[in-house]
Amino acid sequence: MVSVKSLLLATMATAAYAAPRCVKSMPAPPKTGGTKELADPAPGLVLKKIALGYGIQNYTCADESSTSVSASGAVAVLYDVTAYHPATAKTGLTKPEWEKLPESALRSASFPLNKLPGSEYNADPAQPFPAPPEDMATFSGGPGLLKFLGHHYFDATGTPMFDLSAVGLKASVVKLDGVEAPKDAYEGPMGTGAVAWLQLVESKMGLSKGLSEVYRVITAGGAPEACSVAGKGDQSVPYATFYYFY
Ligand SMILES: *[C@@H]1O[C@H](CO)[C@@H](O)[C@H](O)[C@H]1NC(C)=O
Repeated sequence: MVSVKSLLLATMATAAYAAPRCVKSMPAPPKTGGTKELADPAPGLVLKKIALGYGIQNYTCADESSTSVSASGAVAVLYDVTAYHPATAKTGLTKPEWEKLPESALRSASFPLNKLPGSEYNADPAQPFPAPPEDMATFSGGPGLLKFLGHHYFDATGTPMFDLSAVGLKASVVKLDGVEAPKDAYEGPMGTGAVAWLQLVESKMGLSKGLSEVYRVITAGGAPEACSVAGKGDQSVPYATFYYFY
């Protein structure tokens, strides 16, 4: 079996060869084009994987007159899209196709979580993820079947976790910075807007494996409904995004 490392090295060598005038052979996270941008990853870090994440963002309202919605977690399935990055020779998508992938998935791919009976987007708290893990079937605007990479969830301490179980990588993270998604980002099926782009860094809780930084970029959907609309209690809002793992 070919190791992940040698595969990545091969991919990067190919990408560098295909773009000889490009100084950076490893893709940096994309920029929003807004007034403030996320900083690049720390020097020396290597891009290990890019995932398409599809799932829900959770929020809570203390009551319906509350002006602030608080974020309470997220659950998403991660699919490996590393080979579809535009810098990859042969398998890379065009830049517009790539940038539309989270939106296309959110519009057209089937919801990847086990739903609570009768709900549209609520995941089953007892078992949100289908078992055994499923690949994402071909969807309109997508490059074909997407391989299962892992799970994103919040652990018992409320810390975001990315468990890339298919390749043995893990990231337990805290938020370092966030910037608004571009105005033209897809607002999602609930019409609430796209969640912020984030730079997440290793939590120093000793739970990560082989990863130090995670970027959430090119977000689609996931922003909350106002408490006046959602009412008191929890809401789950569907979203899709790219996660870049360093
Ligand atoms: C998010 O809400 C869903 C219900 O839609 C629930 O199953 C899940 O446990 C919640 N997860 C977190 C981390 O808040």
